[in-house]
Amino acid sequence: MDRSAVEAVKARTNIAEVVRRYVDLKPVSGRWMGACPFHQETKPSMSVNEDEGFFYCFGCQASGDVIDFYMRINGLEFRDALEQLALEAGIELKGFRRDPQEQERSRKKKLYLDMHEEAQHFFSNCLGHAVGQPARDYLQRRGMAPEIIEAFGLGFSPDDWHGLDNYLRSRGRKSEEGVEAGLLSKNQKGNIYDRFRGRLIFPIKNLSGKVIAFGGRIITDGEPKYLNSSDSPIYKKGEHLYGLDVARRRMNVSRRALLTEGYMDVLSLHQYGYTDACGVLGTALTTDQVKRLAGLCNRVDLVFDGDGAGRKAALKSSRMILLQGAKCRVVMLPDGKDVDDVLQEHGRDGFEACLESARDGLDFCLKTLRDDFSPREIMDWAGSFLSELRDPALAAFFLPRLANGLGLSEAELRRTAPAGKGTRNDPPAPKAGKVIQMPKTQAATGRANKNDRIYLQFCIKYPDYIPHLDQQQMHTVFSTDRAKALWDKLRTVQPGEDILSRLNEQEKRFYIQCRNQLAENPLSGQELQQEWDFICHSIYETQKKNYLRQLRENMRLAQEQGDGVLLEQYQRAYQDFLGRNNE
Ligand code: CTP
Ligand code: MN
Repeated sequence: MDRSAVEAVKARTNIAEVVRRYVDLKPVSGRWMGACPFHQETKPSMSVNEDEGFFYCFGCQASGDVIDFYMRINGLEFRDALEQLALEAGIELKGFRRDPQEQERSRKKKLYLDMHEEAQHFFSNCLGHAVGQPARDYLQRRGMAPEIIEAFGLGFSPDDWHGLDNYLRSRGRKSEEGVEAGLLSKNQKGNIYDRFRGRLIFPIKNLSGKVIAFGGRIITDGEPKYLNSSDSPIYKKGEHLYGLDVARRRMNVSRRALLTEGYMDVLSLHQYGYTDACGVLGTALTTDQVKRLAGLCNRVDLVFDGDGAGRKAALKSSRMILLQGAKCRVVMLPDGKDVDDVLQEHGRDGFEACLESARDGLDFCLKTLRDDFSPREIMDWAGSFLSELRDPALAAFFLPRLANGLGLSEAELRRTAPAGKGTRNDPPAPKAGKVIQMPKTQAATGRANKNDRIYLQFCIKYPDYIPHLDQQQMHTVFSTDRAKALWDKLRTVQPGEDILSRLNEQEKRFYIQCRNQLAENPLSGQELQQEWDFICHSIYETQKKNYLRQLRENMRLAQEQGDGVLLEQYQRAYQDFLGRNNE
C-alpha cells in the first residue's frame, strides 16, 4: 500500500520536538503548553498535543498540524515546508501520485517559472550594461541604494520589440509560450512582441521567492506609467503582494505589516529600514491578500498617499481588513505626498512622525464617514459592513462601536444590516468528489442553549474570569445571538459602571437570578474548578471545530485553483483529524 508522503512525514515527525525548537514547552495535564510564537503574549496559551499531532493557541487561535506550524513559523509555502520536514525525516517525496492532466499543468507551471527566471536574468543584465544607462540614471535620481536594487532584483527592458523574445528563443523557448506566461504580447494579426519596452522592471515574487510576474515603470514620458504582466497560470492579480517574500521575515517578528500602494514606496521603506513593508500593486486590496497578511502578523498599517485617491483607498482597505476580523491602522501622510517622497525628503524622522499620528482603522473609517458621507451613504456603508463580516460573531464587537461612532442606537443599526447574510463565509459544501461528513456535534439546539446558560452563569457569578475568557475567544462558543449579546455586555462593562442599566428585562432577570444563586450557594473550590474546566474544554472543542472549518476552506481554495494534490492532502488531514477525534 502506498501511503502519501504527507502522512509519512507527519508520522515520523514529532510535533512537540519541532515546536520546541522555537518555543519553551512545559507539560500540563497530558499536553504541552508554551508561549504562542504567533502573537505577542506573556502567559503560555499555546497547547501542543503530541499524541494527536496538532497545536492550538487559545489566544490567537493559530492551529494545525506540524506542517502548518513549520510553514507558519518559517513563512514557507506548504510544499517547501513539506520538503524540508521530509528531508529531516529521511523521506523521499517521490510518492506523489498525479494524474496526467495535473502532470501537464504542473509541467507548464514549471516552464513558466523557469521562463520568468530567465527573463529576470535578461532584465537585470540589461540594467547592468550600456543599454541600461538611462534606467541607472533614473534610479540614482530617485535615491535608490544599490543594495535595494540588488535585493529586489530590479532590471531594465530595452526599448526593443523583440529583446526578450529573442533572448527566450535563444534559450529554446517558443514565443507562444512567452505569451502564455504573460511575458510577451500578441496583437490581433498574431504578431508576438515584447510586452515591456523601455521600462524599469520590478520582479514580483511569490512567497518562496520565485519570480511570477513583472511590473514595469516608464522612465521617459509615456503611457501608461506602470505596466504589469497579464494574469497567467502562475500569477493572478490580487493574490500576491509586492515584496512579501522579503518582508514576511520581519513581519513574523514585528507582528506588523506596512502596506503601501506602490513599488517605489516599498523599496524606499526597505531602504530606510522598514523591512516589514509590502505593496498592493495597483488593484484594490483583496480578501486573499488580507488573509495572507493576517496569517503573518496581527496588525496592518496602511500607508497610502496623502491625497483624495489615497484616502479613498485607505477607507476601502481598512474596511476590507476589519471585515476579516484583523486589526489595522491608517498612517496619514502629508497632502499630496507618498511615503517614498516623505522618506526621500525627510528620512526616517519624517516617517516616524507620520507613524506616531497613525489612526486606528475603525476610527479612521468612522471619521471619514462622518466628514464625507451623506446620511444615506453612511447607513448603506454600515449595513453592508455588518452583513459582510467574515465571522458573524464579529457583529457583537462592531455593533456598539459603529453605533457609538455614528451617533445611532444599536437597534437602529441592526435594522440596516440584512439579516442572515453575515454567514456568507460559512464553508460551502464540497463541490464534487468525496463528501465529507462532519462529526456529530452535540449541537441539538436545546443542549446548546443550555450550555450558553452555563457559560453565562459562570461569567456573571465570577466576573474576574471574564478578561481571561475574552482573551480565549469566549464568543466563539455561544450558539445564539442572544447569548453573544449578553456576553458582549458583560465583557465590555466598565469598572464602576452599573451593568444592570445596560441589560434588557430578560437579561436583567437572568443576571439577578445568577447573583442570587451565588449568594445563597457559592461553589466549592472543586466545583468551581469543574465548571472552569468545562468551559475551557468547550472553548477548546469549538476551536477544534474552527480548525476543521479552516481545513475545509483550504480544500475549497485548492479545488478552485485546481490543485488536486493539495486538495487530497487537505482531505486526508481532515479525515485523519476526524478519525482521531471520533475515537
Ligand atoms: N499602478 C499601476 N498602473 C498604473 C499606475 C499605477 O499598476 N498605470 C500601481 C503601481 O503599483 C504603482 C502604484 O499603483 O506603484 C501607485 O501609483 P502611483 O501613485 O501613480 O505611482 P508611484 O508608486 O508613486 O510611482 P512613482 O513614485 O514611480 O511615480
Ligand atoms: Mn511615488
